Amino acid sequence: MQMMNAMIVLLLSLFVNGQIPNPGQYRFTLTTNGVAQERYAVDKQVGKMLRIWFSNIGDEEFGGNQDIYVRADNRTYFFDFMSQPPQCIANRGGPYNEMNYWPKVVDAFGGESKTYDELIFDADCDGTCLTWTIEFNSTQHYHYHYQDRLYVKKSERKPIKSVLKGYNMDTGKLVSTDVTRFIGWNTDKIPEYEFDYPMDLKTCYYA
Ligand SMILES: *[C@@H]1O[C@H](CO)[C@@H](O)[C@H](O)[C@H]1NC(C)=O
Ligand SMILES: *[C@@H]1O[C@H](CO)[C@@H](O)[C@H](O)[C@H]1NC(C)=O
Repeated sequence: MQMMNAMIVLLLSLFVNGQIPNPGQYRFTLTTNGVAQERYAVDKQVGKMLRIWFSNIGDEEFGGNQDIYVRADNRTYFFDFMSQPPQCIANRGGPYNEMNYWPKVVDAFGGESKTYDELIFDADCDGTCLTWTIEFNSTQHYHYHYQDRLYVKKSERKPIKSVLKGYNMDTGKLVSTDVTRFIGWNTDKIPEYEFDYPMDLKTCYYA
């Protein structure tokens, strides 16, 4: 039986090898151009999700906000550390769309059944990256064209970064490069501490 399960897992992993990972449980911290933006921990089966977004002033003290969704409570607890004093609001339902951060990335790059576009050697992947690329025109600057490329470390099937390049369509010149990194991507069982409440729920306002 165990042998059989191992076989199935092996076959599955071979099957999805060239595709964007889209696991049911994962955690990572998102940085843009070196600045920490958000942390996500999602466990679909357990029914818990965490999203932290860090204050944009780079305060050493924790400054930011946090959402914890608990399916069993049908609540999304919102912890607001930017207000004085910090407060908690227990909103009904959830998870709202932002909790689906990773599935939305996967969809944006063509969905989980899309095979990679190109193999690229990149130090960030310690060798080979699988990459997916999308191109689009800016809706704000009519003469800007963008190319966004997602890098997944081939050996570990681990998302590493996405690189967004902006070009001036009139001159063809590169005008911007933004690097988003998925730091500490991990699909192991999520430790319970990720979902620890940062405040006593008794202090929450139940909306
Ligand atoms: C969870 O809360 C939402 C929003 O109030 C409500 O629409 C939904 O029916 C609730 N689900 C359950 C299982 O109670
Ligand atoms: C962007 O705009 C250019 C010029 O109008 C057009 O040729 C190109 O097909 C557009 N690309 C996309 C991805 O929409």
